[in-house]
Amino acid sequence: MSYSYQIRTEADYRTAYQQSVEDPEKFWAAVAENFSWKKKWDKVLSWNFEEPKVEWFAGAKLNITENCIDRHLSALGDKPALIWEPNDPNERVRVVTYNRLHKRVCQFAQVLLNNGVKKGDRVCIYMGMVPELTYAVLGCARIGAIHSVVFGGFSAQSIADRLEDAKATFIVTCDGAFRGNKDIPLKSVIDDALIGNKVVKKVIVYTRTRTPVSMLKGRDVWWEDEMEHAESQVEVNGVVQQEAAVMDAEDPLFILYTSGSTGKPKGVVHTTAGYMVWTNYTFVNAFQYQPSDIHFCTADIGWITGHSYILYGPLSAGATCVMFEGIPTWPDAGRFWEIVEKHRVNILYTAPTAIRSLMGFGTTPLEGKDLSSLKVLGTVGEPINEEAWHWYNKNVGKEKCPIVDTWWQTETGGCMISNMAGVTPGIPSWASLPMPGIQPILVDEAGKEITEKDQHGHYKGNLCIKAPWPGILRTTYGDHERCRQNYFSTYPGLYFTGDGALKDQQGNFRITGRVDDVLNVSGHRLGTAEVENAINMHAGVVESAVVGYPHDIKGQGVYAYVIMDQLHEDAQLTRKNILQTVTRQIGPIAKPDKIQFVKGLPKTRSGKIMRRILRKIAEGETKNLGDTTTLLDPAIVEEIAAGRIVD
Ligand code: PRX
Repeated sequence: MSYSYQIRTEADYRTAYQQSVEDPEKFWAAVAENFSWKKKWDKVLSWNFEEPKVEWFAGAKLNITENCIDRHLSALGDKPALIWEPNDPNERVRVVTYNRLHKRVCQFAQVLLNNGVKKGDRVCIYMGMVPELTYAVLGCARIGAIHSVVFGGFSAQSIADRLEDAKATFIVTCDGAFRGNKDIPLKSVIDDALIGNKVVKKVIVYTRTRTPVSMLKGRDVWWEDEMEHAESQVEVNGVVQQEAAVMDAEDPLFILYTSGSTGKPKGVVHTTAGYMVWTNYTFVNAFQYQPSDIHFCTADIGWITGHSYILYGPLSAGATCVMFEGIPTWPDAGRFWEIVEKHRVNILYTAPTAIRSLMGFGTTPLEGKDLSSLKVLGTVGEPINEEAWHWYNKNVGKEKCPIVDTWWQTETGGCMISNMAGVTPGIPSWASLPMPGIQPILVDEAGKEITEKDQHGHYKGNLCIKAPWPGILRTTYGDHERCRQNYFSTYPGLYFTGDGALKDQQGNFRITGRVDDVLNVSGHRLGTAEVENAINMHAGVVESAVVGYPHDIKGQGVYAYVIMDQLHEDAQLTRKNILQTVTRQIGPIAKPDKIQFVKGLPKTRSGKIMRRILRKIAEGETKNLGDTTTLLDPAIVEEIAAGRIVD
């Protein structure tokens, strides 16, 4: 496979960028020539950000799994598509070639059909990081069912909310999942999520941990039985055949739930052709992927990073990906380095939070590990601080691997602002330059472009994008108005990212973090309102307010101010109960790091909580809290500041 659209020099980048902005339709039509279409498009792009309505490659017909699998088979059939590294290093590694992936995906597609799943149906996938998860995801895409993967750390309540929102009729899960020394009982979480649910027709259960599960007759079926039955249907005389559904370019491919600043998570919808072109193009160019490279993306497929850079981007490029079931610190903090050495990994893509946590173990876990195969390092999910960047560069990359700092979001489908490995310069803690097709703009609160530099020579403002790129979200499932309000109404005519950024005079961007009420905890997105709602479910809680504060490892920690209905004697026990409530409502990732019991919250006369003040206190600033005269009860601020929880 060759990548005629691969950028190889900085001059190539400048040319591609200019072409993509001057004539996006011509530019993306040329990139799209590199895929396999059942019918070519009638129109490359039509859009308006008012509704919003964005269509890429309208009129085209394709199936994304044929682009990710079938078209590679003649040349790359025996090439590993996935190298699966189990949680327990003593368990056998599984290598899934493209031929094998083809067979399994076809088989699972048939299983879905056999169970009554139809094109357009929503299938919720709640599994650990096992190869079967990829068969499930791609099996859905093969028949045109819309997959909605839910990360294995979410609670039954979170799953129930997502099932209801997506009106999902089918679930694929495992008995359990191994993560470090834990065995997470996924199927029993699904059972809880399904209490009262009348919409889900079938639950397909894959055996991974042999945790005892209860199977509901008529609803629950075993993966293994179903796959065995389907095998004889798709494999005839040794030839695997399974017609892939013919999909429109703009048919939805998947829904992925992510947190916003208000209420419950929203279902970001990505469609077929644009997402495919975008993930492929950004994968090949940002990482400077070469056909023999082994790519290791450490993300879970429950997040967008796993969707785009374990599955669709790399597979559509015919790449080999390492898929890791476990966690970086088990059985010890040398696990990533062991995997790099064992599988001769060339590209390592991980999160700053993982780097910071491994930094805490020093360099001993790296000793004796041969990391010489590494060529490119990447980070994603949150701003990387300079200390972590230098540690990664020195100890992992041995100062010879470019680090790509890729800024993007669930809504953007793939990398938006990033240096390209070894092609455009990497600057510690700067995501740097926009990918071809991306036109970022910094605006002030009123939506006016920032034209004045600050004292450091930087432009500083809210980050928006002027025009669509192929991987932009199309809607939020079942509620298009919410999509419009969230992303397209703050600054009319622009897509608003929710992030703040700096721009230097060379056009490099540095992302400074969220400017809305969204937290980024260990690279995971959480809405403050979502966490507050969860805390408020505790019977004794009257009201709560949640803010983020700088956390050495997680990037941001969750600080909760809580008013209880009566003064409880045992504050520790109450804290424990609140944490349990949050775990039950959302999952362990949303647990507050600090809970301060307060008598009141700083509110304006109109009843709005002044989060600015709470944020300052959480950050350790107890004196200069700004103007408090507009508060209903200014005295409460002093009381809160005096009771601040210190580490
Ligand atoms: O604040 C930005 C931060 O993560 C947010 C998107 O989160 P999510 O949709 O969960 O996707 C994460 C993986 C793509 C952004 O709004 N973010 C992501 N990458 C970076 C980043 N912040 C700074 N630098 C990055 N490289």
